[in-house]
Amino acid sequence: MSDNRESKLCDIADEISTCQKCKLHKTRTNTVPGSGSFKAEVVFIGEAPGQREDEQGVPFCGQSGKFLDEMLDSINLDREVVFIGNTLKCRPPNNRDPEEGEKQVCRPYLDRQIEIINPKLIVTLGKHATSSMMPGAGGISKSHGKALRRPNGQIYLALYHPAAALHNGSLRNVLMKDFAKIPKILEKIKQENAKVKDKNKKNLKQQKLV
Ligand code: URA
Repeated sequence: MSDNRESKLCDIADEISTCQKCKLHKTRTNTVPGSGSFKAEVVFIGEAPGQREDEQGVPFCGQSGKFLDEMLDSINLDREVVFIGNTLKCRPPNNRDPEEGEKQVCRPYLDRQIEIINPKLIVTLGKHATSSMMPGAGGISKSHGKALRRPNGQIYLALYHPAAALHNGSLRNVLMKDFAKIPKILEKIKQENAKVKDKNKKNLKQQKLV
């Protein structure tokens, strides 16, 4: 069966590269559409590109990205098999917080990427990504480390942002502990999906008998 998801993701990245939907296009060096696999089981969503990301067009390629890579390695994943994106595709000047209007106009790109990838789990990194993707979930200090199935059927896990945890020993420990839950959560999701598939198969047989 042909799978054109990769080219669909490339098309979105091309669209983003000429985007002028908000004022950030005037100050960016490069757009940062996100990177990774179109088959990713896990999608990570950060806040917005920083200086290094703006220079290179690659998400999480600075210090916090190095920490993210280390944590991925600790659960035997790497950035080639996951997908890493941000709530914004362009850097806010001086790394200021994303504005509501910027998040709103940028969001459809992320939604389309997620729809194509269809991940088992979305991991939000930090308070901005968490409040954007999981409105009403509460602050990050309350919601971190808990996998939640949202009304749209998608499962999310909120984590502290690697940049916030980088120089804070206790946050760093919490983040690493939460991160270590990812394989278990994925396993549970796969078991649940298998159960549902099994049940649907049985129901199909019953319908045939009637
Ligand atoms: N912080 C983010 O939230 N995203 C990046 O891509 C880099 C740093």
